Amino acid sequence: MFGGDLAQRGDPVELDLGADILKEVTIKKVFIPGEHDWYLDMGRKWQALFGASPWMFDHKGVRFIGLDTVSRAPDYWTIRRMSSKERMAHMATLDSSVTGAWAAVGREQLEWLNRTLSSWGKDQPIVIFSHNPLYEYYPPWNFWVRDWREVHEVLKPYSNVTNIHGHTHQVLYNEIGKVRSIGMLATSWPWPYAPQGVPRLTKPMVRADPGDPYDGVGWGRLTAANSKVENEYVMWRKDVFADEPHDAGTGDNGNQVLSPRFADRE
Ligand SMILES: [Fe+2]
Repeated sequence: MFGGDLAQRGDPVELDLGADILKEVTIKKVFIPGEHDWYLDMGRKWQALFGASPWMFDHKGVRFIGLDTVSRAPDYWTIRRMSSKERMAHMATLDSSVTGAWAAVGREQLEWLNRTLSSWGKDQPIVIFSHNPLYEYYPPWNFWVRDWREVHEVLKPYSNVTNIHGHTHQVLYNEIGKVRSIGMLATSWPWPYAPQGVPRLTKPMVRADPGDPYDGVGWGRLTAANSKVENEYVMWRKDVFADEPHDAGTGDNGNQVLSPRFADRE
């Protein structure tokens, strides 16, 4: 499962290189896009290489769903007469001050999700892959989808839902109602934790050494036993979890400038 942001600037050369590297992984692969893959050509190259989202399949009693949470940005480029490269450059920054609240599931895809789940048992396991987390963690970095409340409305009847997401590049765990959310690591670099802290159920990771490009990165090994999905973080270092907030950076609020949240400004 590849969770998006294969490229940095959406360049076809980057995407081709990424696809080439991933050929070494010979098991069946499924893909969802990240914003870095999308906004140079609005997903054309990505979809040619890896196909369209959303998608679903059933495997051993689990319904797997892949969402596209990146393609529904409000149009911030036309009125500013941006070139496609400028549009992409704004997407390539973590701060979303120009791009706005771009992460969303969208009406059409919500309806698709509702239809797709309706043929599935209410207690049967469902795993939903999304690039952005399906809850409000930190909107200024689009660590959310702006319509997360509607998503949870659709998911409400189902008692065994696990959301696996990318984009945040860090150890993250949350539960809202019966929906569990697990954040994946990146193979490139970790992001710091949000200035406002992490969900209470997250056991945060040790803050990465900025001098070591391989620190704090890795992937996750997901297993499903007794209908429950468990995740093991696999990092290229021994200690994953922090015992104290100052080891994780989650208690850094005094050192960071807080900006108002999108949710509050809207
Ligand atoms: Fe991303």
